[in-house]
Amino acid sequence: MARETGGGYSESGGNRSLPRWEDHRAMFEEYLEGLTFSEEPQFSGLVESMRYSMLAGGKRVRPTLCMEVARVFGAGPGHVLPAAAAVELIHTYSLIHDDLPAMDDDDYRRGRLTTHRKYGEALAILSGDAFFGEAMLLLTDRQEGSCEQLLEAVHELAGATGVNGMVGGQVVDVRNTGAGSGIDPETLALIHTFKTGSLIRAAARIGAVLAGAAEGDKEAVSEYAGELGLCFQIVDDLLNATSTPEELGKSAGSDAAREKATFVGVYGLDGASREANASLERSLYALSRLSPEERELSGLREMAFFVRNRAR
Ligand code: IPE
Ligand code: IPE
Ligand code: MG
Ligand code: MG
Repeated sequence: MARETGGGYSESGGNRSLPRWEDHRAMFEEYLEGLTFSEEPQFSGLVESMRYSMLAGGKRVRPTLCMEVARVFGAGPGHVLPAAAAVELIHTYSLIHDDLPAMDDDDYRRGRLTTHRKYGEALAILSGDAFFGEAMLLLTDRQEGSCEQLLEAVHELAGATGVNGMVGGQVVDVRNTGAGSGIDPETLALIHTFKTGSLIRAAARIGAVLAGAAEGDKEAVSEYAGELGLCFQIVDDLLNATSTPEELGKSAGSDAAREKATFVGVYGLDGASREANASLERSLYALSRLSPEERELSGLREMAFFVRNRAR
């Protein structure tokens, strides 16, 4: 990390590789690489555009979280690969649309030109749309599980993406662009909790559902991951304010320039760092409710510190 984003929360330092997380990530990348979507030559341009953004090397926080939660509840991480990929496809679609001129109007993402800058706006919009459908197919065609588990997983993902989830949060975000520090803290927290927290929470819940976790455990996992999601977006705000585009592989300084509603805008750098730390603490506390059977939670703890201390 080129610049300190504050806090002193350096356990499992931000850039130190996390062995289990890396194993999950390697397994996940291989699975994603195998997704080709169609044999029809007429669709090859669409598939090329989708694979361009999907294989650009994101951090894969959501899918690896899904895999680790499944592991904690006794399923092999490989068991949930289709569901983990479904979550990542929804995330990728949201990034493609988020970068469009009608939204954040960004030129770079994951270290390369954004999809609309490379393939044009129409194909970018349609790639995002196609990812949504392909995500539902992965869950319903490729994921193993009982009918009840699969239905619950679809319900989680669709709910986290819809009005009372990611898209609802994005709409309030867009509506408050230009408000800058003038936004009230409750609305700001709502934006971050919904636009980013919902999908991260769903990733964890889906891992728990498919591993057959008990209801109480699913609740604790939800609380952990919801806080993780809030922390994730506060750190996104901090990084936008303190890093360079080269470090992030996407635009930097753009939140202030566009007077976006961010934690840095409302609380300042130190205040936003404190809020991120408080969110990290709450997510770790939620994990402590998960241990009656001595479950191995170090991976989930490491993930929380990684999210707080990440450099990009
Ligand atoms: C970026 O998400 C958008 C937010 C929700 C903050 P990530 O930081 O997870 O992006 P990738 O997947 O690693 O590129
Ligand atoms: C992205 O939020 C959130 C979603 C795509 C749902 P931002 O606009 O703050 O994220 P970056 O900084 O462009 O990745
Ligand atoms: Mg945005
Ligand atoms: Mg953006």
